[in-house]
Amino acid sequence: MTPNNVQAAVVGVGWTKFGHHYDKDLEELAREAGLHALIDAGIERKDIDAIYMGAFVPEIVTHQGSIACVVSEAFGLDEYKIPIYRPEAACASGGVAIDLAIQGIRSGKFDVVLVGGVEKLTDSDATLALSCAASSRERDYHFNFIDLNANVASRHMYEYGTKREHFAMMSVMNHKHAKDNEKAQFRNQIKVEDILELEYVSEPLTLYDCSPVSDGSAAAILVNPELAKDFEDPVFITGSGHGTDSINLSARKDITTFEASILASTTALNEANKTLKDIDICEVHDAFSILGMLSIEDIGFCEKGDSGKIIEESFNPDAKHIVINTKYGEKIFNCGGGLKAHGHAVGATGVRQLVEVYRQLNYDQKHPIYGKLNHPVNKSLSEDPRVGLVQNIGGVGGDVTCQILEASR
Ligand code: COA
Repeated sequence: MTPNNVQAAVVGVGWTKFGHHYDKDLEELAREAGLHALIDAGIERKDIDAIYMGAFVPEIVTHQGSIACVVSEAFGLDEYKIPIYRPEAACASGGVAIDLAIQGIRSGKFDVVLVGGVEKLTDSDATLALSCAASSRERDYHFNFIDLNANVASRHMYEYGTKREHFAMMSVMNHKHAKDNEKAQFRNQIKVEDILELEYVSEPLTLYDCSPVSDGSAAAILVNPELAKDFEDPVFITGSGHGTDSINLSARKDITTFEASILASTTALNEANKTLKDIDICEVHDAFSILGMLSIEDIGFCEKGDSGKIIEESFNPDAKHIVINTKYGEKIFNCGGGLKAHGHAVGATGVRQLVEVYRQLNYDQKHPIYGKLNHPVNKSLSEDPRVGLVQNIGGVGGDVTCQILEASR
């Protein structure tokens, strides 16, 4: 069944394992994900009209600029001379690439695009590089990126009585969802009480409240709605939103509400003509456990300040997937482990989240390279998932994107 407001259709995906790829450079990671997406879609390089490739800090970490040309050569596309765009929006670089790719298709300029994201962070001072996502003024006061998120967490605890146990539950949930995901960086299982015993990285955040430093890449093939009829089981994108805010946290009225997140999700839902009741699965940006919780609140799944409460009430460490009872019914968040356990290859994350939702909505379909999805959430929900939401945050809520995806079956 094709909804009448389809903006673009996802017809193939590819992604690398996230983690430490000491033996692969940026080009190899992007090539692996991109070529696997082409094979999955059953198309060839010459069929692509344009590429949108998100990446955050390759200039700093690998001393490589001109990423469009790097990608062109890596994909063997230099012979076709097609346009390649490289958006940068910190951790939302992938989400912005998706938003722009959709616009490229909607404008009628392109019919088939490859949207991807790539990041290479290991073998570098990643903390320093990632601090570029924070404002220089706040960095002058010796706040690194983790410290700024710790400030948001402390404020949330102060305003709403959120406890460290709630952050820990968010993390336990993500590790549980990564258990069967062979592409995830961390598949180990942890307990709330173990997390509470850890030292702070930046109070009140411990190691298990932080996503790790990861290398990786993800890619998807998007086509215009008319062409989607030629593909088996496309997944439709029916809404896409993007919001921005000040880079300085100190310039915000309320650091526990990300207005850009509200705008991005409201735009995406309105365009898709959907409400949160319709959403079955969600990927929220949990670069830090507090960010995942703010996302649940800002998108509107519960009242402001209540994310800890709904997670605690729904928390079942023995279940295969933790199903959260939200204001709009039961939902599964971060089906493949979220940023915490799947890993966070910064520029690739938004596209990796899209890939996860595509795979969950098509859980029966066999990927020509990866085979069948081995962590489907369908058995944990009363009905098969049909509609998914993807939310990707850059900086401390400075750039946020959101897309709505719908199954065609
Ligand atoms: N969660 C769980 N385990 C982690 C981890 C994480 N986030 N990060 C590292 N580890 C593990 C490693 O696997 C390693 O385990 P091992 O000893 O069994 O091999 C151990 O902890 C030490 O790893 P190391 O890389 O030395 O950790 P670190 O102290 O240098 O880094 C953080 C830890 C939290 C500082 C780092 O992961 C970090 O900077 N995270 C945030 C990244 C970020 O800001 N991303 C952008 C967000 S938008």
